[in-house]
Amino acid sequence: MTTENTAQIEFWNGETGQNWVTHDALMEDMLQPLGEAVLDILAPAVGDRALDIGCGCGHTSLDLASRVGPNGAVTGVDISAPMLTVATSLAGKAGDDSAPMAFLEADAQTHAFLASHYDVVFSRFGVMFFEDPVAAFTNIRSAMSPAGRLAFCCWQPRSVNPFMTVPAMAALELLPAPPQPPPRAPGPFAFEEADYVDAILQEAGYRDICISPLSQLLEFGRGLPLTEIVERLVQIGPIAQMVRDAPADLQQPVRDRVSAAVAPFYDSRTGLALEGQFWTISATS
Ligand SMILES: C[S@@+](CC[C@H](N)C(=O)[O-])C[C@H]1O[C@@H](n2cnc3c(N)ncnc32)[C@H](O)[C@@H]1O
Repeated sequence: MTTENTAQIEFWNGETGQNWVTHDALMEDMLQPLGEAVLDILAPAVGDRALDIGCGCGHTSLDLASRVGPNGAVTGVDISAPMLTVATSLAGKAGDDSAPMAFLEADAQTHAFLASHYDVVFSRFGVMFFEDPVAAFTNIRSAMSPAGRLAFCCWQPRSVNPFMTVPAMAALELLPAPPQPPPRAPGPFAFEEADYVDAILQEAGYRDICISPLSQLLEFGRGLPLTEIVERLVQIGPIAQMVRDAPADLQQPVRDRVSAAVAPFYDSRTGLALEGQFWTISATS
C-alpha cells in the first residue's frame, strides 16, 4: 500500500467500509442493474482477462467472472480491507463455468499492475476517489492490453439525483449543512461533469472515449418497512455522516422528517424507488 490517497484509504477502511459490509445485500440489490448496464457496454468476451477497479464486496467481479468464463480470469482491486473480506468469501461461491478470481488490496492509482495484461477494465462507482485521476487512469491504461477496453459508471450531479437530495433536504431542516468538498475533490460526485472526465481520459492517453447519460431507477430496501429503510438511509445513505454527527435529541426528529420526505417514493414491494442519473463511460487503450 502506498501513501497516496491516504484519506480515502482511511475512509474506506473505517466506518464507511464496515457499513458497506453490513448493508452489502441492500446495496447490491440497488446497484446491480447499473453494473449490468456497464457490463453490457464493456461486452467482455469469453476468455478475457478482466480487472475490476474499486471492486468493493466483489459482486461485480463475480458477474465479470461469469461473463468471461473458465478460460478467462478476473482480478478485483480495492483499498478497503473489510470489503475485500466479503469479496474473497464470494470467490469461493463461483461456479465451474466462471473464471478464477483474485483480489488485491492495493491503490489502483499507484499499484504496479501486470503491464499490458488486461483485455477489459470495469468499474461500478470505484474510480471517483483518486487524488490524481490522470495518474490513476494512466496507471490503469498501462495495465491494459493494446486492444484493451475500459467501461465504468459514475454519478451525475447530486442536484439531479433525488436519492441524494430528498433525504438531505429533510435532514437540513433540523441539522446544519455539512462542509461541502471543493468541486472535483475525491468523492462520489468528483466525475459529475462529463467534460472533466473526458479531459482526464484524453490526458491519460485513452481513445474512442464515449460518455452517455443513463437514467436508472434506484430501488433501496426492497420489501422492508419504511421505518427500517429510514434507519438504513441514516446508516449508509447520503445523510449518514450528517446524522451520525447530530446531537442525541435530534436523532428521532431527523428520522421523522426524512421518513415524511421519502414516503411518497415508498412502496412496500420495491422499498424506495427514485430515478437516478448517471454517466456511463467507455474508452479503449
Ligand atoms: C462506492 S464504492 C463501490 C464499490 C463497488 N464497486 C460497488 O459498486 O459495490 C467505491 C469503492 O472504491 C474503492 N476505492 C476508492 N479508492 C480506491 C483506489 N484508489 N484504489 C482502489 N479502490 C478504491 C473503495 O474502497 C470502495 O470499495
